[in-house]
Amino acid sequence: LRQFSLQYTMSSRSISKVTVIGAGLMGSGIAQVSAQSGYQVTLVDLNEQLLGKAVQSIQTSLERVAKKQLKDRPEEAKQLVSKTMANLATSQSAADAAKSADLVVEAVVENLELKRSLYRQLDSTAPAGCLFASNTSSLGIAELAEAVPNRKPTFGGLHFFNPVPVMRLVEAAFNQLLEFSRSLGKSAVPCKDTPGFIVNRLLVPYLTEAVRMLERGDATAEDIDTAMRLGAGHPMGPIELADYVGLDTTKFIMDGWHAKFPNVELFKPSDMLNKLVEEGRLGRKTGLGFYKWDSKGSKL
Ligand code: NAI
Repeated sequence: LRQFSLQYTMSSRSISKVTVIGAGLMGSGIAQVSAQSGYQVTLVDLNEQLLGKAVQSIQTSLERVAKKQLKDRPEEAKQLVSKTMANLATSQSAADAAKSADLVVEAVVENLELKRSLYRQLDSTAPAGCLFASNTSSLGIAELAEAVPNRKPTFGGLHFFNPVPVMRLVEAAFNQLLEFSRSLGKSAVPCKDTPGFIVNRLLVPYLTEAVRMLERGDATAEDIDTAMRLGAGHPMGPIELADYVGLDTTKFIMDGWHAKFPNVELFKPSDMLNKLVEEGRLGRKTGLGFYKWDSKGSKL
C-alpha cells in the first residue's frame, strides 16, 4: 500500500503535459479525456486538415458530454467546453510537440515499423524521464520499445477502448500509467506486456471462433448471436460484434499473431473472414459485413 501511495504521489506530480500522436479515432478521444481532466494536451497528426477534423470532433463530443452532465446549467456546460478546449493545442511535428512533454501517448496506425520510426523521432527531443506509451491493440510493448533502448525503463502500454470518452476501461502495462488512467476517471487494470493485453487477447480469438462456427455451418449468425446474448449474458453477440469492431481489424490482428505464433490453433486464419475482407465487406463501417448496417451505424 505504501509503495502504491508513493507511486501515486510521484506520477500525479510528474505528469502535466501530455502529447498525443495520431488524431484519429483513438487519439482524438485520448486527447479529449486528458484535456477534460486538466492536462495540457498537444495533439499531433500529419496535416492541418486531419487536425482540424479532430478538433471539430472533440468539440462536438464535448458539447454532447456537457449538455448531458450539466443539463440545467448551460453556463457551466459552456465553461466545461471552453476550459477543455483551452487545454488543447495541435501540432504537425511529433518531435516539436514532445519537447516539453511529461507523457507521450502514441495512437498512430497499427504498424510496427511506423511506430518505431516515430519513437526514434520523439527520442531525439523528448526530455529524459518523459513517459512513452503506446495505445497498440496487438503489438508487444517490448518489441516497440526496441526502437529506443534508452527509453525502455519509461516505456509502457496504455490501451484505451473505443469510444474513449464513453468506455470506462484502460489497460495499463506499466505501473506509472495506472494512476494517470485513474486520474482520467477510468477504471484501470494492470496487465503484463503480452500481445492484446487482456481484452483483445480473449476477445479477438473469441470473435474468430464464432466466425469458424458459422463457417462450419454449426449455427446461423443470428442464432450464434442470440445464444451468446441470452446464454452468456453478453450485450452483443460475437458475429455482430465482429461487424462492429471491423472485420478488417479483426483479421489484421489475427494475421499478425498467426505470423508470430504459427502453431497456436486459435490464431489460424479463417477463409470466410478473409473472403469478406477481400470483397470490401468490412462490417459496420462499410454498411455490410455479416449483417447490413444503416448510414447511422445501426444494424438493420
Ligand atoms: P486511425 O486510423 O483512426 O488514426 C490514426 C491516425 O494516425 C491518423 O489520423 C493518421 O493520419 C495518424 N498518423 C499516421 N502516421 C502518423 C505520424 N507519423 N505522425 C502523426 N500521426 C500519424 O486509427 P485508430 O483507430 O485511432 O487507431 C490508432 C491506434 O490505436 C492503433 O494502434 C490501434 O491498434 C489502436 N486501437 C484502436 C482501437 C479502435 O477501436 N479503433 C481500440 C484500441 C486501440
